Amino acid sequence: MLLCKVKVKQRWKGIRLRKKRFVMGNWKMHGDIQSLQEFQKINQQNYSGLEVVLFLPATLLALAQQMRCIYGLGGQDCHFADFGAYTGDISAKMLADVGAGYVLLGHSERRLGHGETSAQIALKVQAAWRAGLHVVLCVGETLQQKEKGQFKEVLAQQLYDSLNDNINFDKLSIAYEPVWAIGTGVTAAAKDIHSTHQFLDDCLQHKFGAQAGKIALLYGGSVKPENAAEISHIENVDGALVGGASLKAEDFTKICNFFT
Ligand code: PGA
Repeated sequence: MLLCKVKVKQRWKGIRLRKKRFVMGNWKMHGDIQSLQEFQKINQQNYSGLEVVLFLPATLLALAQQMRCIYGLGGQDCHFADFGAYTGDISAKMLADVGAGYVLLGHSERRLGHGETSAQIALKVQAAWRAGLHVVLCVGETLQQKEKGQFKEVLAQQLYDSLNDNINFDKLSIAYEPVWAIGTGVTAAAKDIHSTHQFLDDCLQHKFGAQAGKIALLYGGSVKPENAAEISHIENVDGALVGGASLKAEDFTKICNFFT
């Protein structure tokens, strides 16, 4: 049953079990061998207490690993099967084989651009855990859904349908990425990020109980050096998922510094 229909009156009172903070960079379909120079600049700073993860294009993962990446590496998607006749796809096991420890699943550019359903994403989540990867599951509403006041229903549905009951709580983070904020330069207001994260916390607690306190909640959507400080101070934001600004070492390292 959807949480928004249940109308949870009691807010999340569970113990926040998350200890780490994250800054994750999503390079999307950007980056060639030359851009590994930028990667190398990012790969020089050590941030204590901060888990930095880079979702590079799959073509660069093995090379980045050979360059002694000091951060986590991740793939931007994976197939739900471990291997097979799936031309053009990459399995979670293949990502793990070239050094990835993470995978991004359910990004809106896959949900909307490739028609991926939450049911398919749920299968990919299980495949990722079979391969030992940490899943960063993205959820987010479109502008139209926001304007129609449907965003809670959309978020709860994406969350519940992308996760079944078999959860690896130690290898799951959720990224709230409003679609209207991705690549637009428009960021959600701090109070809206806070209340939406609260809602996601409530949804997770409703479904999974106290264990949900282990799941980190990241915000993504036009995070840049100019707004990272404010976002980093929102009490229930455990980190950021950064797209465009992760392509420049200077910007990305500034963002990381705000989260340390
Ligand atoms: P953006 O992308 O930071 O360029 O808005 C975020 C994302 O899509 O993960």
